[in-house]
Amino acid sequence: MTAQRADVARAAALLRAGELVAFPTETVYGLGADARNPLAIGKIFAAKGRPADHPLIVHLSDASHLERWAVDIPEAAIRLAAAFWPGPLTLILKRHPSVPDAVTGGQDTVGLRVPDHPLALQLLREFGGANGGANGGGLAAPSANRFGRVSPTTAAHVREELGDSVAMILDGGPCAVGIESTILDLSGGEARILRPGMLDAAAMDAVLGYSPEFGGEQNAPRVSGSLEAHYAPRTPLQLVAAADLAATAREALGAGRRVAVLAAQPLAFGHDSLHFCPASADPAQFAHDLYAQLRELDAMRCDVILAVAPPAGESWRAVADRLRRAAAGSK
Ligand code: TXA
Ligand code: MG
Repeated sequence: MTAQRADVARAAALLRAGELVAFPTETVYGLGADARNPLAIGKIFAAKGRPADHPLIVHLSDASHLERWAVDIPEAAIRLAAAFWPGPLTLILKRHPSVPDAVTGGQDTVGLRVPDHPLALQLLREFGGANGGANGGGLAAPSANRFGRVSPTTAAHVREELGDSVAMILDGGPCAVGIESTILDLSGGEARILRPGMLDAAAMDAVLGYSPEFGGEQNAPRVSGSLEAHYAPRTPLQLVAAADLAATAREALGAGRRVAVLAAQPLAFGHDSLHFCPASADPAQFAHDLYAQLRELDAMRCDVILAVAPPAGESWRAVADRLRRAAAGSK
């Protein structure tokens, strides 16, 4: 059931009282708390089982409140915000001194984004009140999953992950994008993509007139989404080339293993211990389906998930990134 106006009002009241509310965004569901309230932020880390030095993204109702959260905002940020907010882009900027350490993990930067989901925007406006509220109307929200697990893309997934540790879950249906936002660091001299998402470098190039670089190793400890053991199903996931899929599946089945396959084309043979899950050949649809499919495949309790490695190329980069981490994290 999709949440109603009265639910949004109740959710905003809970957030103002320092409670946790999970809410839908276009990317994945977020686990929200008042970004100016360190006690409420502490509840996020406890509910997720996440290390407290991992910074959180602050969600805003619109770009006009940026100055309450960031300082020295570069021209590039203004232009990207105008072009892509609301949307699946997180900007890392120099933090405003008023942003609690609990949100930034003690760093001198803060992640900000305006999510593109009607319920999220309603909630942010209701929470902030007039003029974005006395405290800037920001909701800190990581993905609403236990640390290291697959992000939730439906309200039911959030319930599975977090159960009663969240005061309320706003149900906004399945998330349209399906994987987490692109994270762009604009806090240093040059623009760097710390986490690829469905909003790609080419789209930013069209606005900026140059293409941001992809973040190097030096960024790894700053972004928990960049840890290898992330976005992982419980069942070991193995990436295989399309040409090797049949042979790899046969070998595993021959060894008595129960095999799940995530591929665009079904195998030419069947087997009692083989479960096939159809993947899309379109990257946007693939991203949309991915986390729900990983959950579904996990629930089959197979011994291994064989996922066909996506094609090379920019349009598959974000999906390839999540699959690679799912493979590394599930070992
Ligand atoms: O699509 C999304 O971004 C979703 C929805 C709910 O908005 N949120 C999300 O949050 O994916 P989370 O916490 O699961 O991932 C946010 C990533 C983390 O890897 C965190 O380390 C990074 O953003 N991050 C946040 N603030 C940062 C900062 N100041 N510097 C570098 N990385 C930062
Ligand atoms: Mg996450």
